[in-house]
Amino acid sequence: MMKFTLNGKPVSVEAEADMPLLWALRDMLGMTGTKYGCGMALCGACTVHLDGQAVRACTLPMSMVEGKQVTTIEGLASDASHPVQQAWQSHNVPQCGYCQSGQMMSAAALLAKHPNPDDKTIDEQMQGNICRCGTYPRIKAAIKTAAKLGAKS
Ligand code: FES
Ligand code: FES
Repeated sequence: MMKFTLNGKPVSVEAEADMPLLWALRDMLGMTGTKYGCGMALCGACTVHLDGQAVRACTLPMSMVEGKQVTTIEGLASDASHPVQQAWQSHNVPQCGYCQSGQMMSAAALLAKHPNPDDKTIDEQMQGNICRCGTYPRIKAAIKTAAKLGAKS
């Protein structure tokens, strides 16, 4: 039995130590907002926060999750009030949408660390999140807007 905190609530799952967190989230806990893309930590579609750090859930074993705080896209803010959610809406960022929960979780972790990021920092921190629809310009603009919204709140 693996116990951890998911979006602020304690959960426990019957998972093997080497099961990737993504499997537990999607198949055992019904948290399907986090997507499966490559399964090899190469695309960023499965990005969640582990104790506030952006991590790839597709390769993170449950043994590393036990006792920690996990936040998924469902837990970013249930009323869509997080600056990243507001900025994503105002820039109409998603196209197909598949990569976007991972993009948003990476952006939220980036802004927690760098509240006013420059272009270089955004490029460096977001380079592991791939978008096959090419929404990169809107993602970058939305991150800048989210930084402004975060500074006001
Ligand atoms: S599915 Fe995890 S990085 Fe691609
Ligand atoms: S919006 Fe389609 S993959 Fe990013």
